[in-house]
Amino acid sequence: YKKITTKSLTDMKNNGEKIAMLTAYDYTMAKIVDNAGIDIILVGDSASNVMAGHETTLPITLDQMIYHASSVVRATSRSLVVVDLPFGSYQGNSKSALDSAIRIMKESGGHSVKLEGGSEIAESISRILTAGIPVMGHLGLTPQSIYKFGTFTVRAKEEEEAKKLLEDAKLLEDLGCFALVLEKIPAKLAKKVAESLSIPVIGIGAGNDVDGQVLVTHDMLGMTHEFHPRFLRRYLDLYSEMTGAFEGYISDVKSRDFPNENEQY
Ligand code: KIV
Ligand code: NA
Repeated sequence: YKKITTKSLTDMKNNGEKIAMLTAYDYTMAKIVDNAGIDIILVGDSASNVMAGHETTLPITLDQMIYHASSVVRATSRSLVVVDLPFGSYQGNSKSALDSAIRIMKESGGHSVKLEGGSEIAESISRILTAGIPVMGHLGLTPQSIYKFGTFTVRAKEEEEAKKLLEDAKLLEDLGCFALVLEKIPAKLAKKVAESLSIPVIGIGAGNDVDGQVLVTHDMLGMTHEFHPRFLRRYLDLYSEMTGAFEGYISDVKSRDFPNENEQY
């Protein structure tokens, strides 16, 4: 695939090729992730935590999401860019949801949007899709509802919530979503959802029997070292690597080792 589209992702599911997705919030990171060959870059509202240091995803604004997304889009040549609609920008009514999605598409150049929830936001999703904007769904642990859940523990372990999740997943497919993220639910349930849907299902903490995986880039690089969920595989320990580099620089400055004769004019 030279350039990933929503159609390429459906083809991947049909061909049994797994979809790889990571987050990015800025130009430099997005450039590296895109060049590495990632299929989807998510400009997640996790930027609220990772970039801005908030405890939840709720405070990040639509303007801030557009700033992050436009930076990512400028770096991207192959990946499909999905942009999260932030809390408060779509829950009010379908008109405000459409307005927010249009702002993201127009002002950032992103290729699609992601919204958290099922039947509660069906009308908003329909209206955005009618405008020709591709929508990715997000079910299971939906962090914008953290104050409803109370904890970040696994969702849909009980039959009632699992049944609603399966119904919501089918609804999102029927509405016309091009893909669906499932966050932190039992692997067995995620498998069932992926098997019942023809659109790609991308998991985070949802096991291996789904059509693709997503992780927060700063987490998988080991830059955020206070966060240890079971589903997180760390590919680097960048926190330690970076600390070593910073300590080296500080010590070179203090000892007058930096700059040397070749590093001056
Ligand atoms: O904001 C985010 O990073 C996400 C992923 C965890 C799916 O929504
Ligand atoms: Na998100």
